[in-house]
Amino acid sequence: MKRKKERFKAIEERANVIEPTKENYHDIKGEWRKQYFKNDHPITIELACGRGEYTIGLATLFPERNHIGIDMKGERIWKGSSWAMEQNLTNVAFLRTHILMIENFFADGEVDEIWITFPDPRPRKRDIKRRITNPRFLDMYKKLVRPGGYVRLKTDNTGLYNYTLEVLSERNDIEDLQFTNEVYNSTLSPEVFDIKTKYETMFAEKGETIKYLRFKFKA
Ligand SMILES: C[S@@+](CC[C@H](N)C(=O)[O-])C[C@H]1O[C@@H](n2cnc3c(N)ncnc32)[C@H](O)[C@@H]1O
Repeated sequence: MKRKKERFKAIEERANVIEPTKENYHDIKGEWRKQYFKNDHPITIELACGRGEYTIGLATLFPERNHIGIDMKGERIWKGSSWAMEQNLTNVAFLRTHILMIENFFADGEVDEIWITFPDPRPRKRDIKRRITNPRFLDMYKKLVRPGGYVRLKTDNTGLYNYTLEVLSERNDIEDLQFTNEVYNSTLSPEVFDIKTKYETMFAEKGETIKYLRFKFKA
């Protein structure tokens, strides 16, 4: 509890975490490049980022892009924020919010790419609406991501993977869909850059294969 409080206090004082105590939390929408990154580079967001392994890993591999990790848990974001500071990554930010609120933070087309990394699978039937690849979430992503931008999902969870493929198959606004239930044994493997998140490592050790899919919304 003490540690959690300390981490919350720390992120309050950090410029690389946008969270409710900050002024820019309320007016960053449409202004990420101008106000925060001070460049016009493409923006990748990572949803359910936890500690933000993809945000940090991709920011290191692609310094000419901007990267934003998004999660509702401040103590997890604290870790990614610390890594970014240790590595002097100025192309990284973390946003603390519920994904359902994401339209308050990004203007239409402001995002170039979306990564969804090991989201909570929400297996219970009554939680289907809370799965972050549910149609109402996809409709939001469609607005945020620019035409031609990829949405990418990496998960250990077979139920969520199959559910997402089913949801996508019922839409007529998807193109360039590719998927694999064993990414490290697939030609899609280069697309995930061998970045491993905390949950990926945990589930891989339990023998789960890592599933990956990506698609675009039609322009
Ligand atoms: C299973 S963890 C995965 C974390 C990280 N991506 C990884 O692979 O290690 C799921 C994360 O999603 C976050 N999360 C779940 N639902 C969320 C929501 N609706 N809005 C924001 N974050 C959410 C949780 O706080 C948690 O950090």
